[in-house]
Amino acid sequence: MDVEGETTTPRRFVPDAPYDAVVVGAGPYGLSAAAHLLGRGLNVAVFGKTLELWREHMPRGMLLRSQWWATNLSDPGRRYTFRRFFRESRRKPGYPVPLDTFLEYALWFQRHAVPDVDETYVTSIERRGGNFLLTLADGRRVESAAVVMAIGIRHYAHRPDEFRGLPPGLVIHSSELRDLKPFRGERVVVIGGGQSAVEYAALLHEVGATVDLVPRRPIVWLERDRMGERGVLEQIRAPDTGIGPGWKNWVLEHVPFLFYRLPRARKDRALAWYSSAWAADWLRDRIANKVTVHEGQTAVSFAVEDGKVDITLSDGARIRADHIVLGTGYKVDIDRLPMISPSLRAAIKDEMGIPLLGPSFESTVPGLYFVGVTSLPVFGPMYRFVLGCRSMAPRVARAIARQRRKRRGRALATEPELEIAVSSDRSPAGRRAHPIPSDETSTASWAQRILIARRR
Ligand SMILES: Cc1cc2nc3c(=O)[nH]c(=O)nc-3n(C[C@H](O)[C@H](O)[C@H](O)COP(=O)(O)OP(=O)(O)OC[C@H]3O[C@@H](n4cnc5c(N)ncnc54)[C@H](O)[C@@H]3O)c2cc1C
Ligand SMILES: NC(=O)c1ccc[n+]([C@@H]2O[C@H](COP(=O)([O-])OP(=O)(O)OC[C@H]3O[C@@H](n4cnc5c(N)ncnc54)[C@H](OP(=O)(O)O)[C@@H]3O)[C@@H](O)[C@H]2O)c1
Repeated sequence: MDVEGETTTPRRFVPDAPYDAVVVGAGPYGLSAAAHLLGRGLNVAVFGKTLELWREHMPRGMLLRSQWWATNLSDPGRRYTFRRFFRESRRKPGYPVPLDTFLEYALWFQRHAVPDVDETYVTSIERRGGNFLLTLADGRRVESAAVVMAIGIRHYAHRPDEFRGLPPGLVIHSSELRDLKPFRGERVVVIGGGQSAVEYAALLHEVGATVDLVPRRPIVWLERDRMGERGVLEQIRAPDTGIGPGWKNWVLEHVPFLFYRLPRARKDRALAWYSSAWAADWLRDRIANKVTVHEGQTAVSFAVEDGKVDITLSDGARIRADHIVLGTGYKVDIDRLPMISPSLRAAIKDEMGIPLLGPSFESTVPGLYFVGVTSLPVFGPMYRFVLGCRSMAPRVARAIARQRRKRRGRALATEPELEIAVSSDRSPAGRRAHPIPSDETSTASWAQRILIARRR
């Protein structure tokens, strides 16, 4: 009798050998890393909801702050670029890019470059011998020699302490808001002065809400986009780059690993500047005389009554609001990643929640990589944007492929029969689903067990 057949959920594929790499996350960074790993012929699995942040946690009607040509996902042959997508879909590139256009592009990239994404969440990652054991939300367990953590920014949503005591329905972080229509006719206070806060304020006003924006500093507006208007001299003085005009930006983009080599103090100075909250110039007119802006103020006290919240600002102003939206950004802290098991966490060296990373994005746990915003404090501001995929993905894939070659070389040197076992395991017949055994496992012990079974 097939015991598995008795389960109510459909049986999903479980490989019978460890993966070379599991990518946790299917956003721009995860998809780019996976495309390069697959391009190297590695055995790769990708878990996570495809473009989840962009599909479910950004507001309808949002426009991208980055230029289209600086928002490419990365594949080894550079075949699936935004340019090609525009050409093939017969659209004209422009600025700013609507969210839906980026989504169509990124999903087109995924379909071609990383067709097999398993949309199941990873609930736990632990060390298992020389490998990693990952438990999925549906109970499956898979093993992998390397893990690329491309989990994005949502786990790091920053909810300042002063708002913690308020009922969850009244206070919402911007990353939880997609559909703004239900706010029509409501009074909403938006906290923050960066792109999220200002753009949500504009969009909320546009759906018919009454909006107060409370940035604790004067809003810093980015310069108007003048791409195509800047003369040669201006370009020489400050070349165009994906993170704005200027030679410093040019170096960050074109020498993408120089930042990594800077001393900590210089990194901190640069990060303080680049992490400042800015808002795109094209939002100015959308809030001017439409949204009440309380620049330089903070919310100092709250009283909840009749499902509303009375907010007192630092200048004494009072607002009775239906909701508070926190556009208060994100703070990297790996202690907020629920899938990392305590024993694995203990082995990851960090500085205040920021993992120490080697030049290939590898943490102090061999085979465990952190990419995207988690790597920003170590690798620099470009890695907060999709732009960073281009330099990250080939580097991570190269490092994982090198480790795999080394492992195979070691296995060959110590046990000639092992290679036979591992390679025969890659035959279609060898891909039948087996549950992962619960005892100590590693690539070698897996292969040895298969070999013993075959001898029997
Ligand atoms: C509102 C907003 C607008 C932005 N606009 C721009 C822009 O215009 N241009 C730009 O370059 N950048 C922009 N950014 C920055 C953007 O976050 C990054 O550029 C990009 O999304 C980072 O990609 P990522 O793959 O690292 O993370 P994400 O896109 O956040 O993807 C994270 C992935 O991890 C998965 N995941 C999470 N937890 C688990 C788990 N336990 N198991 C499995 N999978 C998991 C998710 O399902 C998802 O697939 C914006 C950010 C925000 C918040
Ligand atoms: N359309 C788009 O492309 C788009 C839209 C949204 C976001 N993004 C991107 O997403 C990233 C994050 O942007 P973001 O705007 O969410 O975050 P952010 O740029 O970090 O801005 C956070 C804001 O919250 C304020 N803040 C933090 N803690 C606070 C507190 N306790 N009280 C009051 N104010 C507080 C900060 O003030 P201080 O400055 O004083 O610290 C800042 O104004 C950026 O890379 C951005 O470009 C892009």
